Amino acid sequence: MARRRQLYEGKAKILFEGPEPGTLVQYFKDDATAFNAQKKGTITGKGVLNNRISEFLMIKLAEINIPTHFIRRLNMREQLIKEVEIIPVEVVVRNIAAGSLSSRLGIPEGTRLPRSIVEYYYKNDQLGDPMVAEEHITAFGWATPPDMDDIVHLTLRINDFLTGLFLGVGITLVDFKIEFGRLFENEDMRIVLADEISPDNCRLWDSKTNEKMDKDRFRRDLGKIEEAYQEVARRLGILPEAGTRDMKGPEMMQ
Ligand code: TMP
Ligand code: ASP
Repeated sequence: MARRRQLYEGKAKILFEGPEPGTLVQYFKDDATAFNAQKKGTITGKGVLNNRISEFLMIKLAEINIPTHFIRRLNMREQLIKEVEIIPVEVVVRNIAAGSLSSRLGIPEGTRLPRSIVEYYYKNDQLGDPMVAEEHITAFGWATPPDMDDIVHLTLRINDFLTGLFLGVGITLVDFKIEFGRLFENEDMRIVLADEISPDNCRLWDSKTNEKMDKDRFRRDLGKIEEAYQEVARRLGILPEAGTRDMKGPEMMQ
């Protein structure tokens, strides 16, 4: 494979220049961080699984007309995506109380919320991704009011769809974080779903036992992290054929 220019390295992914203008290659690492990278580790095979899980979910979402940056998976750890201008806002949707909502407001983990709650965080590692209101987002020009209308509408549709999809495989979608980008095509601009959707940025609980099947196993040192990610992939019907032996995947070429 040809040598590619690295454009950006994040905590869990690397972006390379794509083969054609307007495309990028998104590489999924096994690195895991939590608490704004104060906790660091490796989850063997995570990149391979998240690449597959995110591919699967983005394809399913495209089938209900959610625009996404995803084009196609290239190999075990890489996918081809459309280049977008990332909106610096993390959109979190919560269906059941957990994590920072529980600690901030004293609502016990596992409490079903009266309705789905959408929250925004300003994407800025130096500031520790502070929570913001829609007012901050529009006042500081991170997104316009019409962008926010699109984002909220898409987010609620994504939540309903993914909640049903996961429920069908015995998993409760407790909460998740998504990101959006601006896609420029000819004279038009569209808001599209970007980044990834995987157990790194969702809380997924077994519907029967409430066992955690996501990155909280790493954040909270619960063990069996690899197994949990694999089980999510297995239930979605996408565990790579050769099972865990295949998980390391091809080495990145630079
Ligand atoms: P929180 O309860 O810690 O605020 O997390 C809410 C959801 O957002 C949870 O599914 C994990 C996800 N998340 C990220 O993907 N990235 C982050 O940096 C944080 C803090 C949470
Ligand atoms: N990925 C984030 C970080 O390292 C936090 C998290 O997912 O908990 O900082």
